[in-house]
Amino acid sequence: MTLQFDLSGRRVLITGAGQGVGRGLADAFAAGGATVLVNDLRADRAEAVAEELRSAGAEAVPVPFDVTDYDAATQAITDASAEARPIDILVNNAGNAGAEGFAARMPFAETTPADWEPFLQVNLYGVLNCTRAVLPTMVERQWGRIVTIVSDAGRTGDASGAVYAAAKAGAAGLTRSIALENGRYGITANNIALGTMRTPLTEPLWAEMADSPQAKAILSRYPVRRPGLPEDVAYLAVLLASDHGSWITGQTLPVNGGYSFAM
Ligand SMILES: NC(=O)c1ccc[n+]([C@@H]2O[C@H](COP(=O)([O-])OP(=O)(O)OC[C@H]3O[C@@H](n4cnc5c(N)ncnc54)[C@H](O)[C@@H]3O)[C@@H](O)[C@H]2O)c1
Repeated sequence: MTLQFDLSGRRVLITGAGQGVGRGLADAFAAGGATVLVNDLRADRAEAVAEELRSAGAEAVPVPFDVTDYDAATQAITDASAEARPIDILVNNAGNAGAEGFAARMPFAETTPADWEPFLQVNLYGVLNCTRAVLPTMVERQWGRIVTIVSDAGRTGDASGAVYAAAKAGAAGLTRSIALENGRYGITANNIALGTMRTPLTEPLWAEMADSPQAKAILSRYPVRRPGLPEDVAYLAVLLASDHGSWITGQTLPVNGGYSFAM
């Protein structure tokens, strides 16, 4: 028996791969030999990451588009597929903490539909759009992997982050249905549910709290007393996307330093 995660010949589209978790995912898939299609809303970020991966010897292509735009996502995915071969692996990673980041946290009773929209657009519609666009060719080719990055918030709830939690729970629910509908075609779909990470998304929070009692209180709930880093996530995603992952589907796997088991 050999244990290897050889993704050579596979093409992976990673959304929001311009920084943070997505960037870590791009490094890991490139190390596994996959061709990485680097998506980000910010073209400069997608181009920079693709360039760095290519400098390190990997095959990488920037594919900037807005995941919330159904037509743009469908067009970009169709074009990327037509250039060479269709996409084998989709990692739905692009996400946000709303229009104003963590500053926008507030009790649900104080929110309006205008506050909900930015969370729902990226964290739920973005996943719907990209998943819908990649599925037909996966079905046609009888092989595919979809990995969606969700959050502990979607499983446990999040006081002052209810709409983010709802959007992530919605995306996780979509994954289960995709797994049910498509397992027979050699397609798996799984979620990775993250705990508190240290990435550019949450850096303002960490920087502001530094060694504060608030930061210590958050970390005290994590048996592994540190926030997660992109590399903590990336290799599980590679496993799920590999041939070794063919009997793991419809699952939500926590990567959270033990947070939820310790609750
Ligand atoms: N950071 C955390 O603590 C944490 C915790 C749980 C879950 N998550 C999830 O992990 C994922 C990655 O988070 P991160 O911390 O790396 O975030 P990040 O903000 O550091 O990076 C996200 C990237 O996605 C891109 N992006 C945003 N909107 C987009 C759009 N509409 N289309 C295409 N790209 C877009 C951004 O430009 C950015 O480069 C997200 O889905 C997030 O919800 C993060």
